Amino acid sequence: MATPVNVALMGLGVVGSGVARALLEKGDVYARRLGRPLRLYRVLVRDPDKRRALPIDPAILTTDPARVLEDQQVHIVVELMGGERPAADYIRQALARGRYVVTANKEVMAKHGPELLALAHRQGVDILYEASVGAGIPIVSPLKRDLSANDIRAVRAIINGTTNYILTRMDSDGLDFTTALAQAQELGYAEPDPTNDVEGHDAVYKLAILASLAFHTRVPPEAIYREGITRLQGRDFRYARELGYRIKLLAIARRAAANGTEALEARVHPALLPQGELLAKVDGVLNAIEVEGDLLGRVVFQGQGAGAQPTASAVVADILDAAQALAHGRPPTPWQGDAELPLRPMTDLECRYYIRMEVADRPGVLAQIARCFGDHRVSIASVIQKETNEAAQTAEIVIMTHIAREADVRATMADVQRLDVVCEVGNFLRVEG
Ligand SMILES: NC(=O)c1ccc[n+]([C@@H]2O[C@H](COP(=O)([O-])OP(=O)(O)OC[C@H]3O[C@@H](n4cnc5c(N)ncnc54)[C@H](OP(=O)(O)O)[C@@H]3O)[C@@H](O)[C@H]2O)c1
Repeated sequence: MATPVNVALMGLGVVGSGVARALLEKGDVYARRLGRPLRLYRVLVRDPDKRRALPIDPAILTTDPARVLEDQQVHIVVELMGGERPAADYIRQALARGRYVVTANKEVMAKHGPELLALAHRQGVDILYEASVGAGIPIVSPLKRDLSANDIRAVRAIINGTTNYILTRMDSDGLDFTTALAQAQELGYAEPDPTNDVEGHDAVYKLAILASLAFHTRVPPEAIYREGITRLQGRDFRYARELGYRIKLLAIARRAAANGTEALEARVHPALLPQGELLAKVDGVLNAIEVEGDLLGRVVFQGQGAGAQPTASAVVADILDAAQALAHGRPPTPWQGDAELPLRPMTDLECRYYIRMEVADRPGVLAQIARCFGDHRVSIASVIQKETNEAAQTAEIVIMTHIAREADVRATMADVQRLDVVCEVGNFLRVEG
């Protein structure tokens, strides 16, 4: 039998356990595919005494990172700890020692990806990170390889299962945000502290990775516009449906012009999507990523964006790929991020808008509001009066605009809010497509 490829896991949590289980249970299959066995050689954990639902040899568990990073027998380091530190430092050390690295860590790849890819290239190895976006959904590899003949025009994605579950429950079952979040937490779809998901940070990390790959440019996460889902109310879903839309938390990166030069739009926010669009039908914890290329047109990748087995699917595929590269000496992929596209400011965005507001229920109110829109050249497409509150003598109206510039819409909102006939601007959402 050929000598084994030694794999060291850093982390044995949800994903690490899924990967370890696949390596232990499907070892024969992988050995046949590879022509050499893949051996689970060492596993770094925080607590070696924790009960683990895996038949794992306690002798390979360690709490000492040096036993992974400094052991010459380790061929592939698989980082599955999560968080920025110490994960980023361990990955850097592994690459600097000439090890192939596989990671599922979106935060590390979003913040340090270009630097780590460049380091890997200098060391003649590679860092593979398919699971960092969309778990098992193949997207990193297609962007690197199968779509490389295209100029990518846009990437639009639902890449956070927790928020998609919450939005689906608010839409289909009329739940309010707090109840939908509590149910997501009960089912294990949301963390006890859900900030990372519901405020859009997680989607921003994933979009930074996707946009950097798709547009060959560095897109730092802090440069991406971010808005979470906490301001959405049940009535927004009802009104959106009546108007022919669904509401989704979208991560969007698109080529756009700014001041006559080529630029990139990168943003994460809830948006109204026409009901007929494929992305509008992606419900529950599912993820989907739509890529639009000049040659291929639109293609959608959809599937489970989290979980032990779906994520292990991508991690093990990367391990197999790294093992092949080790065996055959394939040159590593260089970091192709030299396009240096500037990011277009959010205030320059042009799209249609949905605006919900509560106003005094008396004659002449609409004329005052329409004047504010006109003053800022924001053209109104429709105004619909929704619920009225007879006791308070107020009415709720929903305004849909034609395509307008975000800066103008924001200036309009500021003026509208100052009118004494306007009680509250309840929500303002962008319309996609
Ligand atoms: N969960 C998913 O569905 C999913 C999907 C796609 C990508 N990912 C990514 O995969 C990575 C792992 O996620 P997870 O859900 O598997 O996390 P997790 O369940 O919290 O597991 C983390 C593991 O890392 C170990 N660990 C953490 N910090 C450590 C340290 N400083 N030193 C040594 N060991 C340490 C923990 O050890 P102990 O076991 O001893 O506590 C645990 O085994 C993250 O980057 C995540 O974003 C997760």
